[in-house]
Amino acid sequence: MKKIIDLLNAEVKDAFEKAGYDKEYGSVTISNRPDLCQYQCNGALAAAKKFKKAPIMIANDVVALLEKSRTFGEITAIMPGFINIKVSDAFLASYVNEMNQDERFGCEKTENPKKVIIDYGGANVAKPLHVGHLRSAIIGESIKRIGKFMGNDVIGDVHLGDWGLQMGLIITEFRKRNPDLVYFDDAYTGKYPEEPPFTISELEEIYPFANAYSKEHPEYKEEAMKATNLLQNGHRGYMALWNHILNVSITDLKKNYDNLNVSFELWKKESDAQPYIPDMVEYLKENGYAHISEGALVVDVKEETDTKEVPPCMILKSDGSSLYNTTDLATMVERRKLFNPDAIIYVVDKRQELYFTQVFRCAKKTKILEEDTQLTFLGFGTMNGKDGKPFKTRDGGVMRLENLIKEINEAVYEKVMSNREISEEEARNIAKAVGLAAIKYGDLSNQASKDYVFDLDRFTSFEGNTGPYILYTIVRIKSILGKYQNEIGQLPQGAKMKTAFNDSERDLMLELVKFNEVMYNAYQENAPHKICQYVYEISNAFSKFYHETKIISEENKEQQDSWITLISLTAGILNQCMDLLGLEAPDRM
Ligand code: ARG
Repeated sequence: MKKIIDLLNAEVKDAFEKAGYDKEYGSVTISNRPDLCQYQCNGALAAAKKFKKAPIMIANDVVALLEKSRTFGEITAIMPGFINIKVSDAFLASYVNEMNQDERFGCEKTENPKKVIIDYGGANVAKPLHVGHLRSAIIGESIKRIGKFMGNDVIGDVHLGDWGLQMGLIITEFRKRNPDLVYFDDAYTGKYPEEPPFTISELEEIYPFANAYSKEHPEYKEEAMKATNLLQNGHRGYMALWNHILNVSITDLKKNYDNLNVSFELWKKESDAQPYIPDMVEYLKENGYAHISEGALVVDVKEETDTKEVPPCMILKSDGSSLYNTTDLATMVERRKLFNPDAIIYVVDKRQELYFTQVFRCAKKTKILEEDTQLTFLGFGTMNGKDGKPFKTRDGGVMRLENLIKEINEAVYEKVMSNREISEEEARNIAKAVGLAAIKYGDLSNQASKDYVFDLDRFTSFEGNTGPYILYTIVRIKSILGKYQNEIGQLPQGAKMKTAFNDSERDLMLELVKFNEVMYNAYQENAPHKICQYVYEISNAFSKFYHETKIISEENKEQQDSWITLISLTAGILNQCMDLLGLEAPDRM
């Protein structure tokens, strides 16, 4: 379906042309004075200069041509030359009816679907998932769902960090604690045990300990670096241990991501890119892209127009070892070979922006990727506590994701239980769905690049621009539909919505019709917050309509069917939008 704003634009532009002015002056926008009109066109003011005519005369000419159109209910020229527009109820109702007949609510898929890889999640193996990884998971998942909804072939890749010093640290500490295990016996040539020698909780305790210890003890850090190096060069025992670390850690990560309703098509790791490094380095050298600087192998990536210094992209350190950069570039080589994507989107902390500028430039300059492969860095801000500093636990430590979720679910559970009689089990399930909405919506309703304050009370509130409020709106609609089915009968099939009966009904329709435009914008700009804004406005409009309208006791059957159809459509659209945010409404709240 054409966007409603495009339909209006086309008609008003035509009228400008017919009246002897340029088409382009007829551009229509949503009104910034909703108390006066729904849409507006200010083109007459701009045209006045060119045509040396009072703006109001131009506006009058155009309005005269449009007054009879069935699209407009009220179109008026206002001093000094505004055109105020209200669409006709018949036009609005027929647009909404058409949306209702389409399972995509009138939103067509993109005309040029792409193959897109989204690099998000980015958890580090053997380190507990913390709130820093939360944003990447939540935003990436939503961007992926929006991309798929618009018809693209989208692959989500968790791109686990499994290749850094953290591995050497864990191995070193583990060796110190269990020196007699076969993994550390260089003379051992047999098979290594299949059972991991640790549990996830032990693993998660080891890393922070070893990390802190290494900061105080340089010789320990030295040892960990050596262990990392041995591992990266294929030390048998360390490799076996590393595999255990991966398995134990990934099982746990999957559970955590499941709880967040986040899933990945690909579970690739930094280590998977390592085999591509030697050839890549050779290629960069042979083609003269890389040169030695202070012993290191680098590619210059600065550009004349830079206002800030962009340092060279380092490929190999002077001791020949590879870096985070090297892995990201090699991952591009791998992705090109395996998937040949049209675009790659990285959903990563915005503090890595300069780093990604270097890597993107390097990839393009050295033709590791094709010229037209679209690279996007979607940098997100920090989740802060109420004190404005990065979110911490009450005792100042890094908050583990699991605990954060528990805390939120507990708060919602109390709320759900306090209202009425409900089984423990149902309350727990509701708390899970609503708690997740509190976290995800609290995050997604902000523009991704901005920092935001994590406010438990606000996020879990059933009122205001929150996830629970939107879910509550859906639940209310479900409950009216349930009541209708119990007291009146089957839901009307194929009923048509009549023209709006009152202002609040019309306002609800005017919100709903923005669906395709909102989807298109959210997709183009990688902006889930636009969907949040949309569902919030729909929920407010619904709430007003609901308070002013007695649906179940309405005696005029045709009117009642029309309303039931309208609220079913509202629920359908809200559900679709929530799904794109990675959320789902429970049956009751
Ligand atoms: N593991 C990294 C971190 O915790 C994030 C990975 C981002 N993705 C990438 N391709 N570099 O900071």
